[in-house]
Amino acid sequence: MKKKIFITGASGFIGSHLTEILIKKGYYVKALVPYDINSSVGWLKNIKSKNLQIIHGDICDENFLYRNTKDIYCVMHLAALISIPYSYESPKSYIKSNIEGTYNILEVARKNKIKKVIHTSTSEVYGTAQYSPIDEKHPLNPQSPYAASKVSADCLALSYYRSFNLPVTIVRPFNTFGPRQSSRAVISAVISQCLLNEKQIKVGNINTKRDFTFITDTVNGFIKALETKNKIYGEVINLGTGKTVKIKDIIKTVCKILKVKPKILIDKKRFRPVKSEVYLLISKNSKAKKMLKWKPKYIGRKGLELALRKTILWFKKSDNLKKYSREYKV
Ligand SMILES: NC(=O)c1ccc[n+]([C@@H]2O[C@H](COP(=O)([O-])OP(=O)(O)OC[C@H]3O[C@@H](n4cnc5c(N)ncnc54)[C@H](O)[C@@H]3O)[C@@H](O)[C@H]2O)c1
Repeated sequence: MKKKIFITGASGFIGSHLTEILIKKGYYVKALVPYDINSSVGWLKNIKSKNLQIIHGDICDENFLYRNTKDIYCVMHLAALISIPYSYESPKSYIKSNIEGTYNILEVARKNKIKKVIHTSTSEVYGTAQYSPIDEKHPLNPQSPYAASKVSADCLALSYYRSFNLPVTIVRPFNTFGPRQSSRAVISAVISQCLLNEKQIKVGNINTKRDFTFITDTVNGFIKALETKNKIYGEVINLGTGKTVKIKDIIKTVCKILKVKPKILIDKKRFRPVKSEVYLLISKNSKAKKMLKWKPKYIGRKGLELALRKTILWFKKSDNLKKYSREYKV
């Protein structure tokens, strides 16, 4: 019988790619998608498979989760509010979705005796690197309500492993990018603007450095975590390339690929508050390599450029561009 995987955040950026690959690999996926009046299924709209069951609901509803995870082999928990700027506006909603929501997942996994739980963290939990590259022992220093909510969720997950032996593993992606990412994220925002207006683009802080990881590499890390026979319960595992790049250089590369020379306008409104800014993120990924046998494919200058080309190609074809121009009046 096919293993049943319950994915939260399944219609989002990373979740939809993960759902797609798991279905291709022969798993049965029960995909949790937030309810709206149109019963939208987000990026799952193009997957036609009898192995995909979409259910609408909210991770804040424990009873709903309990009823829907009775026959599940593994829960892959990706649902979260993820925008850092919006976490300054409405921090309590992050506590509800990201902390309480994770608590609900852990509780129902315990009650339903689920065999595996994969919980999604983020490199933002480290804050600006105190040493680099950042290994999993690096201090946690959340600099935004979003990061604080993810630290809390991670700690809850580990406490359920230690207290109740819940078979939970935490994967910690560094900045992921690629097709389907919302145009609020920096790479998508730069690409969208360059495609819509060759004369000028607006950006925030271009001097921060990030470990940009292509979506297929990140998803592969999740799948390795699902399939490995190694004992990885109670472990936190970074998923990043081990290289870092300034936003400024991302802009240069995108402009080079698109053969455009826009004026770069620095928009102070896009800056984080000074003490909240994370200046450097770069992963040490040896634990993922050792425990998961995971190796990112798109690394270094060449890998990044190839991944950017793939992302640009997708943006050229998608209607994400239209959406971006409506939201930001480019
Ligand atoms: N994209 C990145 O660079 C990145 C990096 C590190 C970690 N992460 C983590 O990966 C996960 C997925 O992120 P993403 O980039 O795909 O974001 P996304 O916003 O595309 O996906 C998150 C999904 O969760 C859903 N969701 C939010 N609150 C919910 C609720 N209460 N009930 C049910 N569903 C809810 C959203 O509707 C959305 O579809 C998140 O946990 C995020 O913290 C992302």
